[in-house]
Amino acid sequence: MKNNIKNNKEDKQLVIESLEFSSLSQGMSIINKEKFIEVISGILKVEALNSIKKEVTNLKDIVTKKAKDYRGILNIDSNGDTISLRRDVLTDELDQILESHTLERAIYYLKRLLESIQKVKTSKINDINLLRWKEYDDIITDSLWILGKRDTSGAHLGWYWGNFIPQIPHQMILRYTKKGECVLDPFVGSGTTLIECRRLGRNGIGIELNPDVAQKAKELIERETNKDNVVSEVFVGDSRTINIKSILEKFGIKQIQLLIMHPPYHDIIKFSKDKNDLSNAKDTEEFLRMFGEVVDTATPYLEKGRYFALIIGDKYSKGEWIPLGFYCMQEVLKRGYVLKSIIVKNFEETRGKRNQKELWRYRALVGGFYIFKHEYIMLFKKK
Ligand SMILES: C[S@@+](CC[C@H](N)C(=O)[O-])C[C@H]1O[C@@H](n2cnc3c(N)ncnc32)[C@H](O)[C@@H]1O
Repeated sequence: MKNNIKNNKEDKQLVIESLEFSSLSQGMSIINKEKFIEVISGILKVEALNSIKKEVTNLKDIVTKKAKDYRGILNIDSNGDTISLRRDVLTDELDQILESHTLERAIYYLKRLLESIQKVKTSKINDINLLRWKEYDDIITDSLWILGKRDTSGAHLGWYWGNFIPQIPHQMILRYTKKGECVLDPFVGSGTTLIECRRLGRNGIGIELNPDVAQKAKELIERETNKDNVVSEVFVGDSRTINIKSILEKFGIKQIQLLIMHPPYHDIIKFSKDKNDLSNAKDTEEFLRMFGEVVDTATPYLEKGRYFALIIGDKYSKGEWIPLGFYCMQEVLKRGYVLKSIIVKNFEETRGKRNQKELWRYRALVGGFYIFKHEYIMLFKKK
């Protein structure tokens, strides 16, 4: 029995060490929280800038594993709380202290570092820890998105013509929801939004007019592991008239925290023969009216102060650029939303053949127009 305990302890240590090793190789430092706080608090008591810098240099050596003795900071105690920090960000913070010209500045940076270890500060709309905001460089805050390859991991097969790339809902969900909150996508198509919701631990409700597409989406969403046990459901119906209240009630949900809409870009792709399909609207006016009806149906269920992301592109018809994106934006604004951002996103390299590309380039040169290389992500906030 005794041996067993010892072995377990050794196993645990082994796991911790390998975890520490793998995290280190991924650029993370696993820190013993209590010890780290103790050391920083100790340095804060030092009253001379030079001595502070000496202590911080030692700390930096520990973090970068140059020191011989980790002083319990990296040597994780099996009972102690650990915290994993991005090593580059942490060493930057330490460098900032080392570069301080005054004692006050050094103390200010040290206190800030201490606070970022002890506390978590988030806003009302997401789980981003603002005290460690430098670690979130995967979150895009620029208005021009040049995205590379589509994420094809897991259930994201990219089979549906007219889908969006998973990075779009991924960014929106991280930025505008907290774990356990609910996202509604009334044009769910192949379920990209719901797959991301499941990955990120958010409830997701999707509506899709085409029953065959909805069925395939359901099957794919189910393939994604549901580690947070969230709701991910696709309903077949017309998003202009479907009863969202009764859908949400099924799951005991009263309001949603993020609305994502990726409607057809009018008739660029004909999604079905159904007259209720926005891609079958007879003209731009009818398309906008139908789109407005979907906005009207969903809006009452979006919590006040929360976000609505509209993903839309423009179209070309009879030699004329039709700014569908801005027309749709107007429809949303008419309904009292506040415009927060217009993001311009590149189109991925199309699978089109090279000579087709060249043909378009020739046509553009002849016809005096430009070739679409972008679409919009428009962000609105509900007042
Ligand atoms: C641009 S696609 C959305 C693709 C989706 N974001 C994805 O990644 O697969 C638009 C979808 O809206 C659906 N649709 C069109 N009119 C609709 C309506 N009135 N109600 C619900 N869905 C509709 C189409 O069948 C199509 O699947």
